[in-house]
Amino acid sequence: METIVITGANRGIGLALARRFLQEGKDVIATCRALDDATELRSLQERGNLSLYELDVTDNAAVHNVAETLSGKSIDVLINNAGVMGPKQQSLNQMNYESWSYTFAVNAMAPFHLATSLLNNLKMSSNPRIITISSQMGSLNRKNKGAYAYRSSKAAVNKVMQVLATELEPENIIVCPVHPGWVKTDMGGAEADITVAESAAGLVNVINNLTKAQSGRFWTWQGVEHPW
Ligand SMILES: NC(=O)c1ccc[n+]([C@@H]2O[C@H](COP(=O)([O-])OP(=O)(O)OC[C@H]3O[C@@H](n4cnc5c(N)ncnc54)[C@H](OP(=O)(O)O)[C@@H]3O)[C@@H](O)[C@H]2O)c1
Repeated sequence: METIVITGANRGIGLALARRFLQEGKDVIATCRALDDATELRSLQERGNLSLYELDVTDNAAVHNVAETLSGKSIDVLINNAGVMGPKQQSLNQMNYESWSYTFAVNAMAPFHLATSLLNNLKMSSNPRIITISSQMGSLNRKNKGAYAYRSSKAAVNKVMQVLATELEPENIIVCPVHPGWVKTDMGGAEADITVAESAAGLVNVINNLTKAQSGRFWTWQGVEHPW
């Protein structure tokens, strides 16, 4: 049975991914910042094999501790889902630099830290995959205005994952950033295109069927290659 690790799984896309993988009978290790508040996530424990850990992905000691706890356990898929939009002020005229740094820590640096901390677990799998929920807003190919902090953090994590894919190719570990669609969540807003269930269904289908030839490339939730 495959084991899937998902960060930021208490709401939004992360919660929907946890629900979907549990429906498929997979073992899910879900992390979130505050387990006491994660009522919906905790209720999924009735639906299958779900283990829960409290984890702020920017807390390096906490990442280390979770990795220590999981030591010796095979992990098939790591999903770096936890993410933030960044500061309210991230325009040409107004920038909150402290929050821009924090946005980088969550969106670009933590996925690398999680991936490297769980590398030995991933090496134990026969089909290991490192998936990062990125965004088309980080694509260099798309010309848009504003959201400097968010866009740059997602562009950065795409590059981080591309480099990681190259370095982990000899280990047969697949590494892909994915765009989940424009999704109705606290981040995506009510006007977004698709529901979390639709996004998660597409993402799970992509993740289940990724091949080594697809590693180091950027994919959408519908399995279409996205330009960097
Ligand atoms: N929604 C969209 O349209 C869309 C589009 C493209 C990409 N994405 C990406 O998809 C991912 C999920 O987004 P979403 O729409 O589901 O957003 P969301 O509803 O705002 O949920 C974000 C999740 O990330 C967690 N998180 C934030 N900072 C964290 C930290 N430091 N440590 C641990 N967890 C943290 C949140 O936990 P708390 O509850 O504790 O805050 C929450 O569980 C993000 O990476 C986002 O950038 C979303």
